[in-house]
Amino acid sequence: MSQDLREMDLESFLHPYTNFQDQAEHGSVVMKSAHGVRVQDIHGREYIDGLAGLWCVDVGYGRQEIASAIADQAREMAFFHTFFAMANEPSIRLADRLKRMTPWPIARVFFGLSGSDANDTQIKLIWLYNNLLGRPEKRKIISRHMGYHGITLGASNLTGLPAVHAKMNLPLDGFLHVGMPHYYREAESGMSETQFVDKLVDELEQTIVREGPDTVAAFFAEPVMGAGGVIVPPEGYFPAMQEVLRKYDVLFVADEVICGFGRLGKPWGCQALGIEPDLVTIAKGVTSGYAPLSASLITEKIWSVIEEAGDEVPQFNHGQTYSGHPISTAAAHANLDIMEDETLFDRAADTGVYLQERLRKEFGDHPHVGGVRGIGLIAAIDVVQSRETRQPFDPARKLPLRLYRRMLNKGVIARAAGVSGVALCPPYIVERDEIDTLVAVMREALDELMDEER
Ligand SMILES: Cc1ncc(COP(=O)(O)O)c(C=O)c1O
Repeated sequence: MSQDLREMDLESFLHPYTNFQDQAEHGSVVMKSAHGVRVQDIHGREYIDGLAGLWCVDVGYGRQEIASAIADQAREMAFFHTFFAMANEPSIRLADRLKRMTPWPIARVFFGLSGSDANDTQIKLIWLYNNLLGRPEKRKIISRHMGYHGITLGASNLTGLPAVHAKMNLPLDGFLHVGMPHYYREAESGMSETQFVDKLVDELEQTIVREGPDTVAAFFAEPVMGAGGVIVPPEGYFPAMQEVLRKYDVLFVADEVICGFGRLGKPWGCQALGIEPDLVTIAKGVTSGYAPLSASLITEKIWSVIEEAGDEVPQFNHGQTYSGHPISTAAAHANLDIMEDETLFDRAADTGVYLQERLRKEFGDHPHVGGVRGIGLIAAIDVVQSRETRQPFDPARKLPLRLYRRMLNKGVIARAAGVSGVALCPPYIVERDEIDTLVAVMREALDELMDEER
């Protein structure tokens, strides 16, 4: 990087989730161009993007159809808002398309710009719903330790990463967290998966009962936790959790921001994990990151209460300047067309099987890999001191971050995720030989790192 740009970056640009000291030491990687599964920095160095941007560039980079849809829309009408019964054609058609392509009884679609703001919308919808039902006390929300739901003032309460709360006066009252379904890390010695699920379900029920069922409104969960370390719950976890939620009339919000649009080898994460949601949050894959867009999908159950409120709530008093931005929704159509035309959900399912096999083959009995987790085209390994004793490394050694950095230096982008995980989540168009490279580089970097630790 030229000295100018490096200094400008360090002195002006506050990066999200970036360690100050690390950045000062290593500088930023300034990306410039991208095609397929590869990105290039300003020095012409090429990287295989093993994380699809931030778990989002599902169709891969450089798709001219999406670029053209964005440019055409910008030329015809770059913007007009959707307040006060204003509308634009791509947004109307996208709301309708999403209703048709999802398996749930969706009544309305509310557009936002990020997963975070869509989750904020869900919180407000839940509060509105219970207020209209005459139970204003039913407003507490439960999510999970290490869950990730975003960073706006509402969503960051749902997020269960301690670092997101530290020194920011979070979480606010009324937001509670229960344990994550991370069998390898959280199950007591000798506990079967079934016993572990029972324990988590019991914890959920105890929490609801302790708080008072009349005060608990909703439960938010990612089908598979992404940023928390790609945590795939044991068999039967969600159906059992939902039984308790139904018993106490607690809504289920499925955060499909990463899992939606085919990532888990099924069109929706809820289908892969046996969830029947009341509200669904989508973002990322809806445009593959080509333009910012998210949506709150509202089922009949919730919508009918709002609709029947009549004069009490004559309008939804919520909205952003860019809700239903025509450039974003035009990008979404072009992206979804590609997914359909190239049957990318099937391709992700197929390549996903290969990714999971390769990782398990390479790391299944590695002495420093605690677990290989994943489903579909998302996976992670846990870097541990000892596989047998489950002894983790001292967090101060920053093993996952160092593995990520070593892989980056070898031209592969992965991501440190969760307590000790390093994750992969490539675009759906990734080829098998590229998966071989991702896995081989991960192995080489891990072995080098472990030699260094000895
Ligand atoms: C499951 C999940 N929900 C919500 C979000 C927040 O989305 P955004 O960063 O677009 O606000 C993310 C982001 O990674 C996510 O993974």
